[in-house]
Amino acid sequence: MITLVSRSTAFEQRVRRAFGNDLNGDVRRWQGDYAADPIHAIIDLTRDDPRVVAIGPDHPLATALAIAHGIDETRPEISVVLIADPTPDLYEAALRAGVRDVVESKASGPELRAALERASQTTAMRRRGSTAPDKALGTTGRVITVAAPKGGSGKTAIAANLGVGLAQSLPGRVVIVDLDLQFGDITNAFGLEPDITISDVTALPGRLDGARLKAALTSWNEQLFVLCAPDDPSAGDEIHEGQIHSILDLLAREFDYVVVDTPAGVAEGTLAALEKTTDLFLVCDLSVAGVRSMRKLVDALDRLEMTAANRWYFLNRADSKVGVKLEEASEATGIDFNFRLPSSRAVPLSMNRGAPIVASTPRAAFSRVVLDAVNQLTSTDEPLRSRWKVAR
Ligand SMILES: Nc1ncnc2c1ncn2[C@@H]1O[C@H](COP(=O)(O)OP(=O)(O)OP(=O)(O)O)[C@@H](O)[C@H]1O
Ligand SMILES: [Mg+2]
Repeated sequence: MITLVSRSTAFEQRVRRAFGNDLNGDVRRWQGDYAADPIHAIIDLTRDDPRVVAIGPDHPLATALAIAHGIDETRPEISVVLIADPTPDLYEAALRAGVRDVVESKASGPELRAALERASQTTAMRRRGSTAPDKALGTTGRVITVAAPKGGSGKTAIAANLGVGLAQSLPGRVVIVDLDLQFGDITNAFGLEPDITISDVTALPGRLDGARLKAALTSWNEQLFVLCAPDDPSAGDEIHEGQIHSILDLLAREFDYVVVDTPAGVAEGTLAALEKTTDLFLVCDLSVAGVRSMRKLVDALDRLEMTAANRWYFLNRADSKVGVKLEEASEATGIDFNFRLPSSRAVPLSMNRGAPIVASTPRAAFSRVVLDAVNQLTSTDEPLRSRWKVAR
């Protein structure tokens, strides 16, 4: 169901034409007078539980934003799409009002339809999420940070598949944050083309709040949300530690699991994330350089007293024939790897297709190991620290 807030029959026709015969659910046009009684207007226009409220171009911007804000305050799960003429500050103002998407007045039918469909999917997911058992008051979700000493170790593959595995048990309760702020590519793993990324929310002046953050999340297959890395590699430099803390705090309040993908090594953003991390997934591949650098990373984290999180050790491509044996890797590092992921061509293939392998082939050997980690995560509320400690 889409509620159109508009007095214009032409606008309604445009929406109906954009969907043709594929209109799932109904379209209702609300023509009430918002200014006369704002509170009742919001109640009335969301009365039928629409998935999307689309505010037509015939409303003055100030009214449209007030309506969006009213919906965000009272019915935050409903996605608002604003159809308006672009102005310099439009995007920022819309984001502040909790608008999910802005469509230019002169957008084509397919563009309008795509935006409304995306918004509808987002609401469906929010609703599914809100039917999951509530977290006890005041508790926060687990923050799982995936880190590796070296590039190309498989962090993104693990983060994406872990997110999918968790979301299969808890749809709508999982969010992935791409903190590889320069070259983050979690979008590829999910085939996403986000309109809004992390830098759109951090660039706004003032305090970061839940409404702004919510508007910046992109949904994938009605299963999980993703906070994508900026498109422009330099935009990530502007994001500071305090903002990363706020983002992770706000998300952990809303979601059961916050999965954080990071760049190689310990970048500033990763250190900031580590302060909020409950579970640290450390990844290296089976190579002399890989396991050596893992030992160095673990020592560096210990020196920095980044020891609060449970540590989980992943050896990726653990079956590679590269002249190093698993036992040698464990002996050289003093690390007992909890999970060994096999090498498989299906992993890059699935990432290139935008559908992580846990979703497409849950029985694949790689998927099974990830799902084992998911099981262990979801079945333990107790801190795992002592179990997963590094043997020196
Ligand atoms: N077990 C595996 N078997 C085969 N290919 C894999 C495996 N794990 C990861 N890959 C592939 O290796 C490449 C690097 O993996 P990925 O992007 O996950 O690493 P990363 O640690 O995130 O890299 P970066 O540091 O560049 O962010 C990707 O093409 C990925 O699909
Ligand atoms: Mg990566």
